[in-house]
Amino acid sequence: MEKLRIGIIGAGGIAQHRHLPTFQKLDDLCEVRAICDVNLARAQEVANSYEIPIVSDDYHEIFSEVDAVCICTPNKFHAEIAVAAFEAGLHVFCEKPMALTAAECEAMIATSKKAGKILDIGFHYRFTKEAQAAKKAMSEVGTPLVVRVKALRQRKVPGWGVFTNKELQGGGSLIDWGCHFLDLALWLIGNPNETEVSGSVYNELSKIPNQPNEWGTFDHETFNVDDHVTAYIKFENGASLLFETSWAANIKSDEEHLSISGVDGGLSVYPFELYTAKNGMLLNSKAPWLPGEEQPDLPQARNFIEACLGKSELVVKPEQALQVSRIIDKIYENGGTLS
Ligand SMILES: NC(=O)c1ccc[n+]([C@@H]2O[C@H](COP(=O)([O-])OP(=O)(O)OC[C@H]3O[C@@H](n4cnc5c(N)ncnc54)[C@H](O)[C@@H]3O)[C@@H](O)[C@H]2O)c1
Repeated sequence: MEKLRIGIIGAGGIAQHRHLPTFQKLDDLCEVRAICDVNLARAQEVANSYEIPIVSDDYHEIFSEVDAVCICTPNKFHAEIAVAAFEAGLHVFCEKPMALTAAECEAMIATSKKAGKILDIGFHYRFTKEAQAAKKAMSEVGTPLVVRVKALRQRKVPGWGVFTNKELQGGGSLIDWGCHFLDLALWLIGNPNETEVSGSVYNELSKIPNQPNEWGTFDHETFNVDDHVTAYIKFENGASLLFETSWAANIKSDEEHLSISGVDGGLSVYPFELYTAKNGMLLNSKAPWLPGEEQPDLPQARNFIEACLGKSELVVKPEQALQVSRIIDKIYENGGTLS
């Protein structure tokens, strides 16, 4: 059977902890043939661990050796690398968010279409068992009315790597973590066009010196990304989305909440529950078992590879990922200026 030859670009955290082990498990479908990092020593070290034959510090050099690339660099380089890869005739899996801005996403989509190649974005929450169940159960919910998202962490700013670097990442809690829940909410309700977006963007808490933080340390003086964001989004079909995300909230405990109330019923994604009214009764259902895989990494990677090989339809459409970036742009534009 034909195998997809993959090149990894960016040999840091997400490449080492998610994509490389996952592609290794799917060795009947793919082969990681090349790895590139501007930090050549890191690329070489990872190549040694995973027995990857081709190593480079310039992504252009690996293009002729592979059929697809997996972009695992900071957000700032996603669009540039994706466009170059399409121009070289390759398929692209790109980590989330798709790019720094919607304008960059549009350039990525235009070149992927011109090249006739797959463009997939790493919104892996869609491949969780609960999200897959919720997508199926949307037929019980009927026309969606109100969507609620709370992606909140109690004092857990990721104090390592690139996450608090505005130049490299474009923002903080919203573009980094909130984007997953925004994508999931939009996908569940069928990605209707947004008609109004308003928001508020905060980073007061992380600017205060000597704050407790469970996930590493960061410099409160130079901290200039959002750590807490709220938004209200209206859609052309009349639905609305109440959205809140934070890396560092003063709350009782972490929350990952996405619920939808529709005309016929309602649901919660984490945990998966369904709320209906039938035969004059109100029924709340929990699932004792859900089909699917425990970790979303494998089905996400399998879907990308099979889409490249022409065997499956892509789950995360690039136009849907563009909508996420467009809404993020609007929240940052009208959410207020951060110091
Ligand atoms: N899906 C998720 O939940 C999830 C989780 C973590 C990170 N991410 C995303 O993955 C991406 C990388 O994050 P990370 O945590 O692995 O960062 P990281 O800093 O650990 O690794 C990034 C690597 O890219 C390399 N790099 C930078 N510019 C490069 C270039 N032009 N060419 C080649 N290599 C280059 C760096 O040297 C570094 O080794 C980001 O877009 C981030 O948002 C996604």
